[in-house]
Amino acid sequence: MRGVVLAGGTGSRLYPLTKITNKHLLPVYNKPMIYYPIEALVKAGIREIMLVTGGEYASDFARLLGDGREMGVKTLYYAYQEKPLGIAHALSLAEDFINGGKCVVFLGDNVIEGNIIPHVKRFAEQEKGAMVLLKEVPNPQDYGCPVFEGERIVRIIEKPKEPPSKYAVIGIYFYDADVFEIIKGLKPSERGELEITDVNNAYAERGLLTYDLLKGWWGDCGASIDAWLHINNLVAKTGANKIEL
Ligand code: DAU
Repeated sequence: MRGVVLAGGTGSRLYPLTKITNKHLLPVYNKPMIYYPIEALVKAGIREIMLVTGGEYASDFARLLGDGREMGVKTLYYAYQEKPLGIAHALSLAEDFINGGKCVVFLGDNVIEGNIIPHVKRFAEQEKGAMVLLKEVPNPQDYGCPVFEGERIVRIIEKPKEPPSKYAVIGIYFYDADVFEIIKGLKPSERGELEITDVNNAYAERGLLTYDLLKGWWGDCGASIDAWLHINNLVAKTGANKIEL
């Protein structure tokens, strides 16, 4: 299974911190934000990784990460997203890199306390389809939020006014090779982006979307300045990407 880390977008919710740099290069406690998703993948044995970024600071990622070997990456590939056309659009740039296999997609602003080892194992055994990770949160309206029928996710609503459950769909996704055909069939949302939630809903409609619950804390540093500050403090207190909780 190969890994894709998405680090494009505009970082508008962290403005003006993102006026002169890419959001994922900002510090989270003692390391740049982008280190955390890469470390999480490497710890789960995923050492062939593509980083997708864009904008005027893209070359700074190469200065920071180089060939990735210092972080335990076997080969670090780079892709350039010309315009921030959405998470699913950013993922589409990794099609040749994934080359018909399964992939795990990690949003570059997501930080976790624990690890994804059991989830990678479970998805490796899943015959086909997709898997998302859920976390119970006090503010599901700020994220993708799943609708359940019994134990099954039937749909995900992106930033719902009235959350249908207490869970957030976090920014770590597992897909089979069909994901790229699904993305090709997507239409831009009202905000003009190809939405990852639409990808997940395509799998849900086919009855091929599974989920796991994530252990330990989870944070989306891009949600707000306060969220980013909070995650800095969590990392200072407990550390991130621990092998075991
Ligand atoms: O963090 C989890 C949430 O991430 C999910 O609950 C939502 O369902 C999902 O849509 C996403 O919501 P956000 O509003 O946080 O997405 P954001 O626009 O901040 O983008 C998340 C990451 O994806 C960010 O680290 C950069 C990358 N990205 C985003 C866009 C729009 C790209 O690489 N290219 C893009 O064009």
